[in-house]
Amino acid sequence: MTTSPPTISVQHLTRRFGDFIAVDHVSFEVQPGEVVGYLGPNGSGKTTTIRMLCGLLRPSSGTVSVLGIDVIRDPEGIKPHIGYMSQKFALYDDLTVHENLAFYAGVYDVPRKLEAQRLAEVLRMAGLEGRTRTPASELSGGWRQRLALGCALVHHPPLLFLDEPTSGVDPVARREFWDLIYELAAGGTTIFVTTHYMDEAEHCGRVGFMQRGKLLAYDTPRALKEQYLHGAAWNLAAEPLLEAVEALDTLPGIAQSRLEGDRAHVIVTPGAWTPESLTAALTGQGMTVTAVEPVEPTLEDVFTLLARR
Ligand SMILES: Nc1ncnc2c1ncn2[C@@H]1O[C@H](COP(=O)(O)OP(=O)(O)OP(=O)(O)O)[C@@H](O)[C@H]1O
Ligand SMILES: [Mg+2]
Repeated sequence: MTTSPPTISVQHLTRRFGDFIAVDHVSFEVQPGEVVGYLGPNGSGKTTTIRMLCGLLRPSSGTVSVLGIDVIRDPEGIKPHIGYMSQKFALYDDLTVHENLAFYAGVYDVPRKLEAQRLAEVLRMAGLEGRTRTPASELSGGWRQRLALGCALVHHPPLLFLDEPTSGVDPVARREFWDLIYELAAGGTTIFVTTHYMDEAEHCGRVGFMQRGKLLAYDTPRALKEQYLHGAAWNLAAEPLLEAVEALDTLPGIAQSRLEGDRAHVIVTPGAWTPESLTAALTGQGMTVTAVEPVEPTLEDVFTLLARR
């Protein structure tokens, strides 16, 4: 079996701004056709990482290979081969949908004779066919994001960087945007996408979690849950509930307790508690526990745990 080289390979990628280390010895690989979700709190270094991968920002140290190109030696060489929908993607408000796409076709040097066909493809994919003459300024948030995605795709890049493409977009439009991402991935496009939405992360093939410039975890959602949680997420029904949530949070061996609907959601350090001993501990503090159920851990549980360390 031949294995194709990784689409992205990053080793000890580091970027300093003065004394501040925005990206700190980050290493990972992305395989062809993967959808990788990149998460982390505000200011953790996600955008800075993407900008270095796209040849827009020079790393302080480390190596970056994207589509076989050494991006540090040849930052211009990578640009025609990637699509980048930046966090503040620039659409031209007084241009129409069609004119925006045509503008980006020019930026990306799409050959004149291919332009009409490419634009038609992108309009179809993004579902924008009925809106070609609409000024960008009149599009709602979800449609703007679709147009921005289309603009990043006019040159058919095999690799797409999306920086928070769905922030501020309603749940239905987010779902539809993700359908587009899957459609692209099914067609072979490799996708690197940052998000703050856990439900989106759950749908990625692999997920990275950054904090203060460091990549704390990078794996499939399933592997992350197995590695960090060992199935130790429980929901408790207790009275009074808020008091129980707070009491649980102060117990040793409880990595986290939070309110989730009408339950207390807890992450238990493996072996620290049994449902019986935990019930007894709360009962001893004057609370009533009516149920303790093991539940499927979520990525949010994993990231909360990582962020707390
Ligand atoms: N050009 C710059 N000069 C100085 N500091 C910078 C520069 N660019 C980014 N930073 C700092 O680097 C850190 C990481 O920023 P970055 O934009 O990569 O975070 P992020 O993870 O994308 O955050 P967000 O989720 O808010 O988009 C921040 O503290 C930011 O202020
Ligand atoms: Mg950012």
